[in-house]
Parts: sequence; C-alpha cells; structure tokens
Amino acid sequence: MSLIHIGRNIFTVFVLFNFAATTIFIVEAVNAIPRSYIVEYEHNSGGSNYHHNAVNQELEQYNDLYKVKHVYSSPIFNGMSVTLNDNHTKQLQQHSAVSSIASTLAKSNDHHHPVFSQLRSHPVVKHIYPIYEVPRPQWKANQEDISLPYLGRDSQVNDIHSKLGLTGKDVLIGVLDSGVDYYHPALGGGFGEDHKIKLGKNLVSAEDDQENGVEPLGENDPYDPCRNNDAGHGTHVAGVIAGYYPEKNFVGIAPNASLGVFRIFGCEGGATEDTVIKAMEMAYKAGCKVINLSLGIENSWPEDAMSVVAERLSNQGVVVVGVAGNQGENGVYSQNSPATARSVISVASVDNSFVYSNVISFDFINDEYFSFATSTTTDGFPNGTIATITENGQVPFGCMSDTSITTNSAQGKILLVRRGACTFREKVEKAQSVGAIGVLFYDPNAQDKSVPIADTEGTDLPFAGIDSQLAGRLAERMTQESEGIQVIIPAEKQIVVPPRAGKISGFSSTGPNYELDLKPSITGIGGSVYSTLPLGVNDGWGVRSGTSMASPQVAGSAALLIEYQKLQQLNYTSHYIIEQLQNHGKLIAAEDGRLEHPVVQGAGLVQRK
Ligand SMILES: *[C@@H]1O[C@H](CO)[C@@H](O)[C@H](O)[C@H]1NC(C)=O
Ligand SMILES: *[C@@H]1O[C@H](CO)[C@@H](O)[C@H](O)[C@H]1NC(C)=O
Ligand SMILES: *[C@@H]1O[C@H](CO)[C@@H](O)[C@H](O)[C@H]1NC(C)=O
Ligand SMILES: *[C@@H]1O[C@H](CO)[C@@H](O)[C@H](O)[C@H]1NC(C)=O
Ligand SMILES: *[C@@H]1O[C@H](CO)[C@@H](O)[C@H](O)[C@H]1NC(C)=O
Repeated sequence: MSLIHIGRNIFTVFVLFNFAATTIFIVEAVNAIPRSYIVEYEHNSGGSNYHHNAVNQELEQYNDLYKVKHVYSSPIFNGMSVTLNDNHTKQLQQHSAVSSIASTLAKSNDHHHPVFSQLRSHPVVKHIYPIYEVPRPQWKANQEDISLPYLGRDSQVNDIHSKLGLTGKDVLIGVLDSGVDYYHPALGGGFGEDHKIKLGKNLVSAEDDQENGVEPLGENDPYDPCRNNDAGHGTHVAGVIAGYYPEKNFVGIAPNASLGVFRIFGCEGGATEDTVIKAMEMAYKAGCKVINLSLGIENSWPEDAMSVVAERLSNQGVVVVGVAGNQGENGVYSQNSPATARSVISVASVDNSFVYSNVISFDFINDEYFSFATSTTTDGFPNGTIATITENGQVPFGCMSDTSITTNSAQGKILLVRRGACTFREKVEKAQSVGAIGVLFYDPNAQDKSVPIADTEGTDLPFAGIDSQLAGRLAERMTQESEGIQVIIPAEKQIVVPPRAGKISGFSSTGPNYELDLKPSITGIGGSVYSTLPLGVNDGWGVRSGTSMASPQVAGSAALLIEYQKLQQLNYTSHYIIEQLQNHGKLIAAEDGRLEHPVVQGAGLVQRK
C-alpha cells in the first residue's frame, strides 16, 4: 500500500509505503469532508455490483459503524462512497481489528477505524480517496444588461447555424449544475422526451431543500426551485449552450442540442465530490456525448478523484468540459479539478466585446457614451450640471471638511468627487448638506478603466461611479471652462465596449496543472454573458460573469463538431474533438499588445470554423 500525502501548496509528494495494491491519496485541503471516503474497486469482471456485494458482506459485522452513500458501477468507476461513524473508539474494544501499521502511517484517526482498516487491506479495494467539498460555483451578477445576440458578435456561431446548418441536433449534453428552470420559453418550456431538456436527475437531498424552504423534488426531476439572490446558475449555463428565443434575438451555441440536467447544487452551499462522480456516472449512462461541469475545486492535481473519473469519461469518448476556475488572482497553478485532468477541457474566460448598458454622456463629448455604475441604493441618475469645483486642479474628496464645496457652488448640481479620505456615507451626507442632486465619484487608484461601485446603504441620493480616465477628462474641462458640464443620461441603453473587452478576464484561473500539462486548454467568453435565468429572477434574463459562463460555450461548440462528425459518418474520439477546438483557437493579446501566455489563455478563444 502506498500512502501519498499531497501538501496543497507545497508541491511535495511523499510515498511512504508501497507493499500492497491499495493507494490512498490524502490531499491536505481545508474542505475535506470528515470521515468520508470514495473507495474504488479493482476492475469488475463478475457483474455489476459483484465487488461491492462482497465487500459489504464482509463488513456486515461493522454495519453500525459506517454508512454507504453512493454505489458506483460502470466502465468508468466501480466503488462506493462511505461515511464512517465517529463513535468507533468505543467499538474498538469490541472489534479488535486495529492495524498497528495504520497508527504509524497516518495522523488521521480514521486509520484506526475498523472499517477503514478492513477496506484498506481488502484485495478488491484499489484506491481510497478523501472526499472534498465542491464549492458552489462563483459567479458575478453584472450591472449591464445585454439584449443582443452577443454570441454572434464575438464568434462565428451564426454562420455555423445558417451556412453549415449545424445546430447540435441529436447531441445530448449533460449539465451538472444547480438544476434548470425548464419552464423558461427559451429552454423549451417543459421537461421530458419531447423537450429540449430531455432527461435529468435530482441529487440534492430532501432535507437540504426543506432547510431552504422549498418543496423537495422527485429524484428524476432536475427543476431548480430556488429563487434566492444566487439562484439560476444552471439555467444560465443551459441558455448559453442550447437556449433559443428569437423574440429576443437570443440563440445559444447549439440551439437544437438536447440537455440532460443533473442537479447537484441546492439553493445554498456546495456539493461533495462523491455526488459529482455519481452525476457523471448517470450522465454517462444516459448517453451524454458532452458533459459540461461548471464546478471545480482549486486543486491542480489530476489525481483528485473527480479528475480521475472525468479522465476516464473522456477516454470513453465523452467530451468533458470544465472550468479553469475563478481564482486568477492566486497566480499560476490555480486550475480547478476536474478540469486538471489531462483529457478534460479546461476553459479560461475572456471579457465580452460589447455590452448593452445604461450609459452616461456629457455635452462637451460628442457621440460617446460611457459605462457607469449606480450605487447599491440608486435607482436612476438625474440629468443635470456638474458643479465646477476643483482644488489645485484636483477634484475634491467630498468629505465633510471640504470647504470648497458650499451650498453656493453645489446647490441643485451634481458633485464630482474622488474616492478616499472618508466613507461613501460621509460623502453622501456632505452632498445632501449642500443641496446637491447627485454624486459622481471615481477611484484614482483603479488601474484600468474599471468602474467602481459604491455601497451607500441608507440614502436615496443618486450616487454613481465612473472610470478614472473619464474623470480626468471632466476635471481637465472644469479647469478650462467655468461653465458647468451637462450630464445627460440617455433614456435608452446603448452598446458600449467594456474596459477589458476581448482580454482575458481578471478572475480566470491560470495553469499549468501540477503535472505541467497545458492548462487551461482553451478560452470562452465568460466576462459579461447574457443568458436565461429562472422565471422570477430578474425578468428571466441576466448578465453574469465567471469561467462557468465560458465553459458552456465550449461545450456547445463541441456539440456542433460532434454533429458534423456524425453527419459525415465519421468516427471521432474526445481527443480528436479537443484537438479540433485547440487547433482553431484565436490567440488573444494581453494589454501590452503581446500575446497572452499559454498558461493564461491555453490555445486561445474558441472559434467555430
Ligand atoms: C454509532 O453511531 C451511529 C449513528 O451515528 C448509531 O446508529 C449507532 O447505534 C452507534 N453505535 C454505537 C455502538 O453507539
Ligand atoms: C433547429 O434550430 C433552428 C433554430 O436555430 C430552427 O429554425 C430549426 O427549426 C431547428 N430544427 C431543426 C430540425 O433544424
Ligand atoms: C457548464 O460548466 C460551467 C463551468 O464548468 C458551469 O458554470 C455551467 O453551469 C455548466 N453548464 C451547464 C449547462 O451545465
Ligand atoms: C435626460 O436627457 C435625455 C436627453 O434629452 C432624455 O432622453 C432623458 O429622458 C433625460 N433623463 C432624465 C432622467 O430626465
Ligand atoms: C466507425 O466505427 C464503427 C464501429 O466501431 C465501424 O463499424 C465503422 O467502420 C467506423 N467507421 C469509420 C469511417 O471508421
């Protein structure tokens, strides 16, 4: 037996012992589920649950000491997940099955557990993996709203649909996520054989749903009943892959593909790896040709249990698409499992080129619109005149102590202030005390043209952020012209080019994996993506950002390639599809004009040629 201890951040592997066939992986991470393990059996030649039944029978004497959660039986994985009871110390006196090696081997108490000892030395047990919590996918709601066929603008997807007639027809894509609102008209308006969402399973427990105040669903129902703030991840992803709603000019990547939806995330919190593996098995057995995983654990080892299973799925011909992750700020090696696996596609994110958004404009700048961000408590921003107040050419902070800002100069006007020196709350109070009708602020320390958002709890004074470059133009104008600048908020939303359009999203995780395989594999548009939300969240549509918005584009593109192979009666492997996607990637430049490094963009932005 070898016990491999993988320190999460120290990149060391200790192989302590190797005198039997069982390998135990211990990855030190904060989110391992206590006393829970995935047990893998040797290759099964005796029928579906042959090994499992044998192991279970032998463990019968300990049946009050452990609980089996999932049993796996497929060409990709045979085994079970178990949770050990923690009252075993009492039991130790009764069952004397403690291995003396175990105590020297591991610091974990579980190694003294009689069930663990039995499993570890059992001849059909090949691996024992710890189970990690799979965090809920992180995504961000954007302020902008796009009602444009954004996909067509950044990709050639419309051409593929119209000229090549490829729409993903007869390709089944598995979506492992938070379920889906299949009543959404863009997603087929129903569930079952005759619908876009053809099949699905619910792997969220009834207790979990009850705790969140929603009616538990049946095990074959992948509906997403959650309507909290964070709700709708799976519905958004499903829309990117296969949504179709001509009234809004909305077309997903593979609008005629069918979806199998496997609900693994409830209304709140994460899932566990063993449940994700169960869902992968279900998707495989259901015949999914592409599996989209919008989830991940920051763990760049391809030896993680989810990665191992995802790799085998890929080798069975299923194209498995996962996320690079949203931990770009952690630097290199921030890839997520299961996309760390060699043959699983890891998708990085690029920011969208156009957004359709509420904009601000100024009388002295013709024909140019700018993004701005209203504060958490601001509903609309008024038209008006900016109070011409500068100190030595600098815009004031707008704190209580700013003596240049007086009722005389600011009454009935809009104040332009800098971020810093005091709280937003104080700036609001100051503005109100001098009778201003609104405040525009900017952050002088913001690096790029990013637009800051203020949290202004407890006030209804309109308050909004603009980028610092624009603020510089306004300040310059104020020092030249004594006449106040007119602010015009157009009634209609406008198309604007966001600051990092076409650049790798700041949040996108960087490769390679710890085995130095090229990761991420490819890039999709994940920054500011418009898609479906459950009916009742916003108006059923919204803009979200995250690598999980990028991966479904690649999943949809893979479906189009598979459809092509099928129409041409060509056989394909998942590796062939991955190669096709990578060979046609469009390389992305960094801000300095040079090409982004492959560990940031992989083979470039997915194109559909
Ligand atoms: C051990 O705990 C489990 C539940 O955690 C319980 O069902 C079982 O009866 C307990 N066994 C003993 C001997 O206390
Ligand atoms: C496929 O989707 C298109 C929309 O992109 C639709 O017009 C067409 O009717 C669908 N069905 C088939 C069989 O192509
Ligand atoms: C696809 O995967 C991404 C991330 O891997 C996830 O955010 C998204 O919800 C998934 N979409 C579907 C339809 O499963
Ligand atoms: C601001 O002015 C524009 C252009 O005149 C107008 O369309 C818009 O409705 C005005 N907005 C407000 C809030 O009055
Ligand atoms: C595709 O695979 C099938 C089944 O393995 C085989 O019968 C067929 O000849 C293959 N076709 C091509 C073009 O290789």
